[in-house]
Amino acid sequence: MAKHYDVAVIGAGAAGMMCAAVAAQRGRRVVLLDHATRLAEKIRISGGGRCNFTNIGAGPANFLSQNPHFCRSALSRYTAQDFLALVKKHRIAWHEKHKGQLFCDDSSERIIGMLRAECDAGDVSWRMPCKVGSIEKSGTGFHITAEGGDIACDSLVIATGGLSIPKIGATDLGYRIAKQFDLQIVEPRPGLVPLTFDGPSWEAFVPLAGIALEVEVSTGGSGKGKAQRGHFREDLLFTHRGLSGPAILQISSYWQPGTPIVLDLLPEMDVAEELIAMKTTVRKQLGNVLAQWLPARLADGLLVANGFAPDARLADMADAKLRKLGDAINRWAIVPTGSEGYKKAEVTLGGVDTRELSQQTMMANKVPGLYFIGETVDVTGWLGGYNFQWAWASGHAAGSSV
Ligand code: FDA
Repeated sequence: MAKHYDVAVIGAGAAGMMCAAVAAQRGRRVVLLDHATRLAEKIRISGGGRCNFTNIGAGPANFLSQNPHFCRSALSRYTAQDFLALVKKHRIAWHEKHKGQLFCDDSSERIIGMLRAECDAGDVSWRMPCKVGSIEKSGTGFHITAEGGDIACDSLVIATGGLSIPKIGATDLGYRIAKQFDLQIVEPRPGLVPLTFDGPSWEAFVPLAGIALEVEVSTGGSGKGKAQRGHFREDLLFTHRGLSGPAILQISSYWQPGTPIVLDLLPEMDVAEELIAMKTTVRKQLGNVLAQWLPARLADGLLVANGFAPDARLADMADAKLRKLGDAINRWAIVPTGSEGYKKAEVTLGGVDTRELSQQTMMANKVPGLYFIGETVDVTGWLGGYNFQWAWASGHAAGSSV
């Protein structure tokens, strides 16, 4: 005989715990199931262990989705200020880093403890660790076979996240359930992920691993299919396999395989104009001139990659050549070979197609009682606390409706 609950939530991560707590505090009998042995591992490792739990400026413009307007309703009904009020209620010390990013002062554990306490306040039942078997529609509700005994529920919320970081328990269960109920999926792919480069044109940059600098980076917005355009000013980091750092993680979510990303390594300066203007007065070698503005090893790498000898004298260079060099620095277009994949991706782009869901409640339009929240849905935030804000907001929307 299955044990009956009003609501079953599968996935006790950020979105699942928020949803369970909100529903339970509304008086619903809620069970929360998760297959992991440790609770909310992704919150624990987030923000370098300090959880960048929201972004004070979070709005629809900070999210990618095939329907960029879908997230508007949930985000406006549960805002960053609402989550911050909860953090303050639990007396968790926090601070703001750059660009509105809010972090815990001590540890992500505080956010996990807070969500757990909010679930306890509503008397949520836990099944964890618990393997989930089959899920079937039964009358007006659902029947779940699960370790520890079958469960019957009126509302079923899927909060199993995306595919990123499989070693801490990410699975495709959310997508499989969506397909089982005939819901469309936007093809998932890794987001907020380092990009890889190889081949002869990259050789000069391999030894630069460890160099970091602030850049402007852009991609998309043109060509076939007109991919969404991304544009960011953030730090870039050279790695052993390619490029990383916040600039690259951000742009990776907009990047389409086979297309270039465009880097401006000196966004404050028109390099060609500057070099041409200096030609008659400065007697230095090219490498030394560029090293005034860029890390010296990077300056040499760029010169070599573009067919210039670092010891060539600026005064001997034709203007056309200096323009070419300026382009290589202000408009460096490079095609990544690929990305580091789900092993390193902070998020998964794509997921349950938002056209299948109500933007007010997150319920599937054609399956009454079935909800999808958090990263399982085709709504993906920028780096900087936006993905948790989506988890809280979508969890709150479903928790208020079930
Ligand atoms: P989440 O992944 O949190 O939870 C899903 C839950 O479902 C897990 O507990 C999992 O065990 C469970 N589950 C999966 N499959 C299951 C199955 N088959 N059966 C039962 N249970 C199952 N975002 C941000 O805003 N600020 C930040 O600082 C960071 N930092 C960060 C660092 C790193 C290294 C990563 C990988 C990610 C981030 N993120 C982030 C992104 C953020 O962690 C992510 O977007 C949210 O955790 C998504 O919340 P969800 O609840 O949707 O999934």
